[in-house]
Amino acid sequence: MKIAIIGLGNVGSTIAYQLCNIDKVNELVLFDIDDNKAKAQKLDIEDGNASLNKEIKISYNNDQELNDTDIIIYCVSIGGIPNNRLEEYKITKKITEDVAKQINNTKFNGIIICVSNPVDIITNYLQKLLNYDYHKIIGSGTLLDTSRLKCYLSNKLDTKIKDITGYIIGEHGSTQVPVLSSFKINNRSLLTLINDEDKNSVHKEALERALFVKETKGFTNYGIASSVSLIVDIIINHKNNIISISTYDEKEDLYYGYPSIFKDNKFIRQEISLLDNEKELLNKSIASIIKVKDF
Ligand SMILES: NC(=O)c1ccc[n+]([C@@H]2O[C@H](COP(=O)([O-])OP(=O)(O)OC[C@H]3O[C@@H](n4cnc5c(N)ncnc54)[C@H](O)[C@@H]3O)[C@@H](O)[C@H]2O)c1
Repeated sequence: MKIAIIGLGNVGSTIAYQLCNIDKVNELVLFDIDDNKAKAQKLDIEDGNASLNKEIKISYNNDQELNDTDIIIYCVSIGGIPNNRLEEYKITKKITEDVAKQINNTKFNGIIICVSNPVDIITNYLQKLLNYDYHKIIGSGTLLDTSRLKCYLSNKLDTKIKDITGYIIGEHGSTQVPVLSSFKINNRSLLTLINDEDKNSVHKEALERALFVKETKGFTNYGIASSVSLIVDIIINHKNNIISISTYDEKEDLYYGYPSIFKDNKFIRQEISLLDNEKELLNKSIASIIKVKDF
């Protein structure tokens, strides 16, 4: 399987390195606007693979390699963007227009996974620019947020992460919706295991955990790299996990995090039941995306 990563900063380079551990990944194509950076990331990853006897072919900044690439992972950004969603959107939108032209000049017809923020809107914009099948382009969405909450719950309730299921949905941002009614610990509803005070605080604590990482390191990389590795593993090894990623909602004509499954080479949403207050929060989250989306 051949995977391209566009944007080789903190996130893209960590994803590239981590993908070398996924079964069946045997070729990487790396892209960055900074040619030397792309070359340096290629050489560094190759050196790591050599120590572990991994035979993975790596090329960089060659658009024609996209013709037979299976998956593109889109991680562009520019350093030093102020912590302002609209500013970030304007900058990433412009970069996305350039990269879409680049992809459009190739015969690429695989799956696209967007990571660049604001991820729900950028996924939607790239889909529009490429006039791409809605089911073949997704965003990492609330997969990382869901993992963060699972991680927090695992520590709090002294439970193995693999025994926790459930989803955060909506925007990958401040209006995301923790669907606590969907969370189960060893098949027991989370809502029966925690008190009212904890019901209000668990999601907030998980968000603070993420904020601490971002503010202290200046970026996050390992969490998102593992989320993307999981998506790639599901695609190339035909796994049937249901994951909360940014997929297309036909009714609202936009993308946001929702449980989805990969089947017949497409990502399809899976309906889940929501309590009234969760529905209300999802509507608010959708409204916050509509407020920024300008295409
Ligand atoms: N969705 C999530 O859960 C999640 C989590 C973490 C980070 N992110 C997002 O991922 C993105 C990347 O973050 P980062 O920390 O790696 O940023 P970064 O600034 O370290 O890296 C971005 C890279 O993109 C490159 N780039 C810019 N324009 C390009 C172009 N036209 N073609 C190719 N490469 C180009 C830059 O040279 C840089 O190397 C950001 O938008 C960040 O908010 C998303």
